[in-house]
Amino acid sequence: MAFSPAFLDELNNRNPIEDVVGQYVALTRKGSNLFGLCPFHGEKTASFSVAPEKGIFYCFGCHKGGGVVNFIMEIENLSYPDAVRFLAKRAGLEVPEDDSNQSLYKKKERLWALCKEAARFFNNQLKTPAAAEVRAYIAKRGLTNSTVTRFGLGFAPNTWSSLLDAMTAKGFTKEELLDAGLVLSNQNKGTLYDRFRNRLMFPIIDVRGNVIGFGGRVMDDSTPKYLNSPETIIFNKRRNLFAMNVVKKSKQGFIILTEGYMDAIALHQYGFDCAVASLGTSLTQEHADMLSKYTNEVVLTYDGDAAGQNATQRAIPMLEKTGLRVKVLRMQGAKDPDEFLKKYGADRFRLLLQSSENQAEYRLRSLQMKFDLSVDEQKVEFAKQAADLISTYSTGVEREIYGARAAEMAGLTADVMKIEINKAFKRRMAISKKAQDKKDLEISATRQPRSREIRYDNMRSAIAEENLLRMLLRQPDLFDRAKILEREYFSVPMFGRAFDALRRRWEDDLSVNPSALSELLTPEEMAHLTSILQKPDIPLPDAAFADCVRIISEEYRLANVSGISDLKEMQESLRRKKGYGGK
Ligand code: UTP
Ligand code: MN
Repeated sequence: MAFSPAFLDELNNRNPIEDVVGQYVALTRKGSNLFGLCPFHGEKTASFSVAPEKGIFYCFGCHKGGGVVNFIMEIENLSYPDAVRFLAKRAGLEVPEDDSNQSLYKKKERLWALCKEAARFFNNQLKTPAAAEVRAYIAKRGLTNSTVTRFGLGFAPNTWSSLLDAMTAKGFTKEELLDAGLVLSNQNKGTLYDRFRNRLMFPIIDVRGNVIGFGGRVMDDSTPKYLNSPETIIFNKRRNLFAMNVVKKSKQGFIILTEGYMDAIALHQYGFDCAVASLGTSLTQEHADMLSKYTNEVVLTYDGDAAGQNATQRAIPMLEKTGLRVKVLRMQGAKDPDEFLKKYGADRFRLLLQSSENQAEYRLRSLQMKFDLSVDEQKVEFAKQAADLISTYSTGVEREIYGARAAEMAGLTADVMKIEINKAFKRRMAISKKAQDKKDLEISATRQPRSREIRYDNMRSAIAEENLLRMLLRQPDLFDRAKILEREYFSVPMFGRAFDALRRRWEDDLSVNPSALSELLTPEEMAHLTSILQKPDIPLPDAAFADCVRIISEEYRLANVSGISDLKEMQESLRRKKGYGGK
């Protein structure tokens, strides 16, 4: 799986981080670092930094960080090897042939090419006499020619091997057709046949413009209504959204999330060029993360039925977790946006968008629907729960407005409701203050990393390890003075791995640079390492390095020598490990 260190070095050298990042983010220099608005979370002040001489980026707001490869993985939504390939292409570098990832990427490129040809084939079929029915269906659904072109819609003929034959003639192999999910194999006869037959075809295109799969709709009431490509090495439903390739260029400032291909397409046709659809799956955290890269606000327009409302409730926390503002649009008189637009037109939809509920409203209304407010007991229970809910709203204005609204719903006076909300608010504040106090204590005592995947079990050693790595990266010849350290001496395994790899590079006369670790460390580990390196440089005395080496080996010895002879030494070590001792 590995790329050679020499190749990765060349890759990093030929892709200076400030140039690569500069293509996505406007950067301004401040001292030796560059700053800009973070592309990974919405912000108004620049907390995103690039350190060219270290080859790393780090956001002080959302704590993403790493080398140039990590940046591309994150912003282009690519796996590690694909990000390497992306950068190789950018710099005009040949990826070494003997590389096993190379073959996977080559294969992906073949499947991308195949799917693109298939989309072209389906689209061309629309003009054939056999496509009369689908043309009528397209007209019936009110799709214009320009919509058909914009989304590259097509027709899969009602035959068993049109696509198979056409693609084989273009030089694609049967195996490739199977791998792309375009054909199926008949076990008995050992023959292949087209997966999509007699359907209106919707190509699915990823953010980089590659055709990765298809959805196909029947033109009558038969089932399944939609048939989709299976998961393949290029098609991952959890990571892709229909129409995202178009929406990423939208200037609307928000993204409309729909349930269906036809909803997204209809919205685009009616002028809302910011609509995407999930691909027959519920929204995933990966989707939410991707959306947050392109916008600050998402409007949910799921169906009004129970399933749609459940999907809405599940989607909200995932989206909010990424820092997105979430609004929920409630349609009346139509089951989905497509139907709504046809019935009432774009202006009415725009009105709906403007009045779409923010979270505060949506939550209160959802709560209200759980109660029968003509029954006194239920009114009381509603008022209590509403007070709890409203007390979580962050501004006083919101608490005031929705308090009044809840009072009205429950038939209480606004004052009574206000008292209830204040009580709930105080309760909440007391609880959260306690939690915050506890957290503060824990943080100062332990300096645990932010990422839950990395834990400092031995605080004294971990902090020495942090400092050691910072010093080594600044001044690699210090490796000379760390000869006694081994990888397993490190209490934090990722530091051990980083140390080992960097030392090997130093011994091989390769650059000792954090970005060289992108392959070895997970993105979370990279971000953590970067966060340490981006801490303001405190000039440390020469002796500090020796201290770090000593502490690391001492702690290793203490943890690994069986039966510590001196009880006092053990107590001392335990006390230090808890983080109360020396830094
Ligand atoms: P819907 O059944 O709500 O259909 O499915 P729709 O979007 O309103 O489609 P039209 O208007 O009848 O053409 C919503 C989405 O669920 C997935 C598809 O992605 C569809 O767009 N789906 C639905 C399937 O994958 N398979 C199915 O059989 C049905
Ligand atoms: Mn529909």
